Amino acid sequence: MIQVEHLTKLYGPKTAIADVSFSVEKGEVLAFLGPNGAGKTTTMRILTASLPATSGSAKIAGYDCFDQPKEVKRLIGYLPEVPPLYTEMTVTEYLTFVGRIKGIEPERLPVALDQVIERMSLGEVRGRLIANLSRGFKQRVGLAQALIHDPPVLILDEPTVGLDPKQIIEIRQLIRELAGARTIILSTHILPEATAVAKRVVIINDGRIVAEDTQEQLSARLRRSEKVSLTLKHPPLDVQDHLLALPGVLSVRQEGHTFLVEAELGRDLREDLGRTAVQKDWGLLELKLVAMTLEDVFLRLTQHEEGVEAQP
Ligand SMILES: Nc1ncnc2c1ncn2[C@@H]1O[C@H](COP(=O)(O)OP(=O)(O)O)[C@@H](O)[C@H]1O
Ligand SMILES: [Mg+2]
Repeated sequence: MIQVEHLTKLYGPKTAIADVSFSVEKGEVLAFLGPNGAGKTTTMRILTASLPATSGSAKIAGYDCFDQPKEVKRLIGYLPEVPPLYTEMTVTEYLTFVGRIKGIEPERLPVALDQVIERMSLGEVRGRLIANLSRGFKQRVGLAQALIHDPPVLILDEPTVGLDPKQIIEIRQLIRELAGARTIILSTHILPEATAVAKRVVIINDGRIVAEDTQEQLSARLRRSEKVSLTLKHPPLDVQDHLLALPGVLSVRQEGHTFLVEAELGRDLREDLGRTAVQKDWGLLELKLVAMTLEDVFLRLTQHEEGVEAQP
């Protein structure tokens, strides 16, 4: 349904995204995960035919996002980072206005309006001025403007940013309900959000895709990627050098006689470390795994991209 191939965007001399490729199947929910400045919004603006790419191509249902913007805009609903709300309008006035712009026929408009208001649970505020709505309701109005023409593809740019925890849960639930027949891409800089909503996650950092995984594989990666804590009775002064020389060791942090050894993803260092400590007579006192959090894995994926590409 969505094909992105070798997409690159320069803003003057600044490369915002470089050689980005991925695809999304019909009915799939994909999370686009990356820290601020990674290039998420740039990619989404290109996909929604709001911004031309410098090179590469992006297609929605076979339509080119640059050459066929009308067709593309008809197929997608877009929730930008800052929803384009007219705060001096009521919810009904605004959604009617958006519906007209999107070319919904006048006789169909009231039905489309009622449906989207029902779906986004906006009934109780439909007569209120948007300016007076809470942040959570404003975001639902933003989603409603993306949905009013019932598009098969939704592109949501950081849909829960700035919301409180209760509103975040509500919006995530709404997104899950919208999935199914629809193809959805949402961007986020929060790892748990990606795994809560999407089946597949593409991780982008500094304009480049550094990993792509199913939610299950990401969790499996998490189980496999661990640090080892090694406690020695009499470590020599150059113990860090010895540890760093072992294959698969990325970093070593010392706290007293305990060494926290970080391994490449998927590598269990306990056997190697144990053998080395015994052979060198360092007085092995303890050797144990320390589980990594999702945040650790995310930071690793975005900071050590070369390690990621070596993964099977
Ligand atoms: N209009 C612009 N002009 C110049 N640089 C920009 C512009 N928009 C974004 N950038 C830069 O491009 C990079 C990617 O930005 P963006 O796509 O907004 O990332 P994200 O949405 O992941 O935070 C950033 O370094 C940002 O500063
Ligand atoms: Mg952004």
